[in-house]
Amino acid sequence: MIKVLITRKIPQRGIQLLEKAGYKLTIYTEKRSLPQKELIELCKNNDALLSAGSNKLNAHFFEECSHLKAVALMSVGYDNVDIEAATSYKIPVSNTPDVLSNATSDVAFLLMLAVSRNAFQMHKRIERGGWSFFEPTANLGIELKGKTLGVFGLGRIGVELAKKAKAAYDMNVIYHNRNRNTAAEEILDAKYVSFDQLLSESDVLSVHANLSNETKNLFNGSAFEKMKRSALFINTARGGLHNEADLINAIQDKTIWGAGLDVTNPEPMDKDNPLLNLPNVCVLPHIGSATEETRDKMAVMAADNLIAALSNKVMPQIINREVYSSNH
Ligand code: DGY
Repeated sequence: MIKVLITRKIPQRGIQLLEKAGYKLTIYTEKRSLPQKELIELCKNNDALLSAGSNKLNAHFFEECSHLKAVALMSVGYDNVDIEAATSYKIPVSNTPDVLSNATSDVAFLLMLAVSRNAFQMHKRIERGGWSFFEPTANLGIELKGKTLGVFGLGRIGVELAKKAKAAYDMNVIYHNRNRNTAAEEILDAKYVSFDQLLSESDVLSVHANLSNETKNLFNGSAFEKMKRSALFINTARGGLHNEADLINAIQDKTIWGAGLDVTNPEPMDKDNPLLNLPNVCVLPHIGSATEETRDKMAVMAADNLIAALSNKVMPQIINREVYSSNH
């Protein structure tokens, strides 16, 4: 009987598919993160892995678990996985793109609006009894209508956000990517700009790129310096793309207006982090894809990928397609 390890409780629809396929499932349900050593031990008793969350699947992991027939991630991001190492052991790895673009862009939109009106800090102030008298010049936010949305990484999620921003606020869209996205340029009337232009022209700068050696720490002090003083910085991609200390300084010094983060570095964020008490800052606990509808779809997609691999078929959402070529 084929044995599958699932690193977290996932929606029932995914479990049902795997059970129907006849696999013996082991589901890690402890209320703490799973250390790599334990993950490796568990994998040694299993044939395939469904990894939900950011388990570190590095070269050491694949060296120890080279017997795995497949790894299905229940996430679109795979910066936690050493794909080259997986490929060297011919282990196919899949992810869950597309199905979470709507939910994740909703969170970017939510943060954009919440930051523009300082919504989270206002809520906290009311809790502390701080709603006193009306002051026409107090509690002022900024409006988004007709402003410029700059998207760093105009892929699936960035496009969804841009569509919403255009429909709701008629925002102009500019973007910076490694490669131009001409299809999106047409749908959104989006303008491709250099990275420096993106920084200097955006009223809202929203990050939707993968974390890689090229993008790590890209949004640092020197980047914030180039942004408008009224700019909002939104990150729903990965915390490693921004430098947290520099972001704190940029907001404290009013170099930029504020920031909305669904991702931090590290995660979870410490409760004493200064960002949590700064004006125009809204932080969420990495909930981009966390809706019932989306998590169901992600679980089904991850299960389907695993079933394909374990039936000697190509995983539909394969990341390292090279594993199927005869040269490998
Ligand atoms: C993803 O799918 O990459 C989300 O950020 C959840 O990790």
